[in-house]
Amino acid sequence: MTKLSASLLVLLVAVTITESRLPKKFPGNLDLVFILDSSGSVGTSNFLIMKRFASNITLSFKIGETLTQVGLDVFSSTVTTEIKLKEFNTCAGCLRAKILRAKYKGKMTKTFFALDHARFNSFSTHYGARIGVPKIAVVMTDGKSQEKDKTCESAKYLRNSGVIIIVIIIGNKVDMEEIQCIASGPSFIFTVQNFSGLKKRGFRDRVARKLFSDKIAAV
Ligand SMILES: *[C@@H]1O[C@H](CO)[C@@H](O)[C@H](O)[C@H]1NC(C)=O
Ligand SMILES: *[C@@H]1O[C@H](CO)[C@@H](O)[C@H](O)[C@H]1NC(C)=O
Repeated sequence: MTKLSASLLVLLVAVTITESRLPKKFPGNLDLVFILDSSGSVGTSNFLIMKRFASNITLSFKIGETLTQVGLDVFSSTVTTEIKLKEFNTCAGCLRAKILRAKYKGKMTKTFFALDHARFNSFSTHYGARIGVPKIAVVMTDGKSQEKDKTCESAKYLRNSGVIIIVIIIGNKVDMEEIQCIASGPSFIFTVQNFSGLKKRGFRDRVARKLFSDKIAAV
């Protein structure tokens, strides 16, 4: 083999490996809302890692009014919509920049407020949710909520309204029973041991693949 064809082969193998790791940019319709826990246990630097994770995962989607739209809610004792689904659906770069600017709260973990808010507001047509388009909430949390019964009930209402709920758990301080009553099913729960785990490309791709397949399952 000549030196040139050998290096071409190396290049080809490298490209193939990169591509199998990397899901193609998802070209379908999806209304995706991230719901980030910004309670006191998270802290500002870990909250930044959460935001980076959310921002990075949007790279796996084609963002657009007729493609994937992304919203962002942040909660602790209160809940704030930082990004409505309709807000940045024409500029993926602006969307990512805005995700990174979301404000940290640092109080309690009132998950039920966030889930109710998602049902009434974040996934409403008023905020840009589209009729007939699959809806997915990605809840990221590191701990127990303040009122488990309320959390379970709010999650059930949100799911019954047609929203698939994925939960990403960071660390081992959550109440698994509570997580199970939030998520749409066992395969909708993802766990990392600590916040650094969110930085791993493989983990991000696993979650992205799940988001793609749910969209497919839902149509
Ligand atoms: C985070 O978890 C990984 C395993 O996923 C482990 O290797 C690493 O040491 C942990 N880091 C800290 C700071 O605990
Ligand atoms: C996000 O992507 C950047 C650039 O590839 C990387 O440096 C960073 O570690 C990623 N962070 C997370 C939390 O995924």
